[in-house]
Amino acid sequence: MTEREFWNDAYRQNAGHVVVPDRLIASLVAHLPTGSALDVGCGTGTNALYLSGYGWRVTGVDWSEHAVFLAERAAFVAGVQPRFEVADAATWNTRRRFDLILILYALPAGGQAAPMIRNTARTLKPGGTIFIADWDRSMADPWGFDPCELHDPAAIVEMLPDLAVKEARVRVVDDMFPSDDPRGVNGSRARIAVVRAQRPVG
Ligand SMILES: C[S@@+](CC[C@H](N)C(=O)[O-])C[C@H]1O[C@@H](n2cnc3c(N)ncnc32)[C@H](O)[C@@H]1O
Repeated sequence: MTEREFWNDAYRQNAGHVVVPDRLIASLVAHLPTGSALDVGCGTGTNALYLSGYGWRVTGVDWSEHAVFLAERAAFVAGVQPRFEVADAATWNTRRRFDLILILYALPAGGQAAPMIRNTARTLKPGGTIFIADWDRSMADPWGFDPCELHDPAAIVEMLPDLAVKEARVRVVDDMFPSDDPRGVNGSRARIAVVRAQRPVG
């Protein structure tokens, strides 16, 4: 099974257990003027819908057709109009440029994350912000993962092209998962590797 098929299957089985409850975006975007946003690995579009509701012009990209189907349906129901595309973010090609790029819990394992980050970061406008959040490597132990599958802030920074790093740290979030979510089985506290960077102007 390819990774793409894995995600499609996961969404078909229980999309609610794939989507990651957001705990970070509100504080990130509160001080940013609205503009164009790219949500990389957007899943069922929860974050894209959130931004759309605040006036952002959002493009969501995910390689799972089923996730994009669910995202388009959710946008229709919510009455907002983000644009969604089915594509591999590591090779996706666009001439559009964005004020904000989000990559939330969507990084592939290890060094495979670099092509996704580099290919999407090149679409960042001068002065624009890229925000990456993913499970910190220290979560490998409680979750029984190989540490190589996860990232820490320093490793993510190394994958960024020429951008000014504004934040690179581990944020601890309590009550990450609802009580019926199997991802919270070893405790609902999550350690999240967060990197925020800007493309310099000029
Ligand atoms: C854990 S889900 C997170 C979804 C969403 N960002 C969220 O915060 O709920 C990871 C998503 O990344 C997508 N993804 C992983 N690698 C991808 C790639 N190379 N191109 C496009 N989407 C990818 C998966 O299909 C999946 O929808």
